[in-house]
Amino acid sequence: MSETEESEGPIIRLKDVTIGYDPEDPLVDIPEMEVFPGEIVAIAGPSGIGKTTLLRTIAGLVSPISGSIEVCGGAPSSPPKRGELGYVPQKLGLVRHASVLHNVMIGANAGNKAPWALLPSSLARSKALEAISSMGLVDKIGEPVRRLSGGQQRRVATARALAQSPKLIMADEFLSELDEETMQMVLGSVIDYVRSSGSALLVVEHDISRAKSMADRLLVIDDGRINPFITEITAVEVKV
Ligand SMILES: Nc1ncnc2c1ncn2[C@@H]1O[C@H](COP(=O)(O)OP(=O)(O)OP(=O)(O)O)[C@@H](O)[C@H]1O
Ligand SMILES: [Mg+2]
Repeated sequence: MSETEESEGPIIRLKDVTIGYDPEDPLVDIPEMEVFPGEIVAIAGPSGIGKTTLLRTIAGLVSPISGSIEVCGGAPSSPPKRGELGYVPQKLGLVRHASVLHNVMIGANAGNKAPWALLPSSLARSKALEAISSMGLVDKIGEPVRRLSGGQQRRVATARALAQSPKLIMADEFLSELDEETMQMVLGSVIDYVRSSGSALLVVEHDISRAKSMADRLLVIDDGRINPFITEITAVEVKV
């Protein structure tokens, strides 16, 4: 596939996918779902319905029960290919005893497409510093993550994802625990990255009005199915 064809195709494509942990008791059916370069798509739905499981399945961390999934034109891989996927998990997955810089450097190194041996570490470091700065964490750079607040830790995980320069960011409730001003800064930085790089953002957001205000499309998981008719945020009224 040429670079042009690749950039025009969807970054995520799901067809007839069923997700869950037990084939006898599946969580969500997704007849069809596509996310294109430059798009911001939000997923909402009740607690425990399967939103995190959907992200984990797209990331290749959980196998689908059935159906086909493509991420950047190929099957999801675990661990994801370099520079492909920046994941901000709901449970963050940070190295808690290590510093903010160390955690974000993990992302910066993972995002470098060249073999590590050829990499100037100054490049990874400058990407990490830029991401940390965009999350407003410069004054915490040497602090062990375990000493940070919940919202600050969430920003470290977001910086780690941005530092990879990924084609796709998947963020699970990444704006939780943030005050309005910090939330706008974090969201603004991520949206700027997505729009300017032509990558995509798939975000789980329980706050429906926030989901609507940030996303181009909102997918609502209800009764175990992503409702294909509730995809245009301008066209639906969603109960809150
Ligand atoms: N590793 C696992 N093995 C088996 N079942 C699991 C596993 N992880 C989650 N589940 C179950 O799958 C269901 C969906 O969980 P999931 O975390 O995807 O929900 P969610 O929509 O993200 O909820 P929340 O809004 O509370 O984060 C829940 O019933 C949960 O108990
Ligand atoms: Mg969840």
